[in-house]
Amino acid sequence: MSDLKYLSGFGSEFSSEDPRRPGALPEGRNTPQRCAYGLYAEQLSGSAFTAPRNDNRRTWFYRIRPSVVHKPFKRLDVAKHLTHNWDEQEPDPNQSRWLPFDLPTTPVDFVSGLHTVCGAGDPRARNGLAIHVYLCNKSMERSAFYSSDGDLLIVPQQGTLRITTEFGIMEVAPNEIAVVQLGMRFAVTVDGPSRGYILEVFDGHFKLPDLGPIGANGLANPRDFLTPVAKYHDEDNIDFTIISKYQGALFAAQQRHSPFDVVAWHGNYVPYKYNLANFMVINSVSFDHCDPSIFTVLTCPSTKPGVAIADFVIFPPRWSVQEDTFRPPYYHRNCMSEFMGLILGAYEAKEGGFVPGGASLHSAMTPHGPDAPSFRAASRAELSPQKIAVGTQAFMFESSLSMAITKWGAETCKKLDAKYHECWQALPKLFSDKINV
Ligand code: FE2
Repeated sequence: MSDLKYLSGFGSEFSSEDPRRPGALPEGRNTPQRCAYGLYAEQLSGSAFTAPRNDNRRTWFYRIRPSVVHKPFKRLDVAKHLTHNWDEQEPDPNQSRWLPFDLPTTPVDFVSGLHTVCGAGDPRARNGLAIHVYLCNKSMERSAFYSSDGDLLIVPQQGTLRITTEFGIMEVAPNEIAVVQLGMRFAVTVDGPSRGYILEVFDGHFKLPDLGPIGANGLANPRDFLTPVAKYHDEDNIDFTIISKYQGALFAAQQRHSPFDVVAWHGNYVPYKYNLANFMVINSVSFDHCDPSIFTVLTCPSTKPGVAIADFVIFPPRWSVQEDTFRPPYYHRNCMSEFMGLILGAYEAKEGGFVPGGASLHSAMTPHGPDAPSFRAASRAELSPQKIAVGTQAFMFESSLSMAITKWGAETCKKLDAKYHECWQALPKLFSDKINV
């Protein structure tokens, strides 16, 4: 919407002040003895105090009340399919594919509409990830949500989300993503039936990947990441519910004021959005393929060099020019786990079955690749330069962890395609005594 303003840059130190209270942001002090306009100073730390400077993340809020003014948290019995229990099902190494997840038929908001599909690890040990889908049709009302477990990378597939945060408001449409980091409070307003994917990482934060020989420019450029500007709500004597996701469960605390009462803030720990159409694709190679890491938008690194807890990777519209090359994604087995979703359009390596709002999971060392019709077509196609993936946007959450599928993902959602494996069964034996086939 046109009334929204943003700051741009990734990992930058920002400051923002609601113009209705000029001078709310203190100069030269983070915690003056008395803040302007009677505001309270509060720090939100996204890293250990002693984290190295490059990784240190924190923001100072200047707000009408400190966040601590709330009643005790109590267990909240919504979002029954939100879980970090990875032992609900027997391990299943098979290729998995889901038809589009059903939108609700009764009123459901963003939090109640969270469903966990798969994951690994434990937020208590600050290691792991969870992959959720949200399926909702109703705006959150007088409630705010935050995860105490990890950063949330939100990928809308249907419906635009208006995300009110303590930092300001972001509007996020399909083909855009938002990242709301650990502990940041937000509320989601929807414009109708809404569906999307969420990658939650329990350790560290998302970063831009290093570019190496690519140089200073390319892939997702820092300037295209947008952060909201301060916009406070001065609302008193209202019932407001704060919902915390804590160790995989939801808890609610009541308070009598809006938590979106930040008049000014400064820091480098912020929510942000990014338009995937701004991704600078580097893949028009002479022959063969770069690995899909060339499409990494954001990465959450593990402690092992070059190994991610999770990468967010996209397959955007691009030019395909390789000579003497089978151009679709090659057949492969990967030590990483690959969860894919489709935001819009038709994915290049499958002729059907993998459709917007659905998903697939190819687990560690489980083989996969183009289906039989795609192989047949691509191995005979004329190799002129071709714009591919036009009007589509597939993405991948790729993790070094071996993920388990939840009971909801395997059974309850009733969207698992039991016949997925059949798409490869028609691959013929082409082996011949002739060298040129
Ligand atoms: Fe793959």
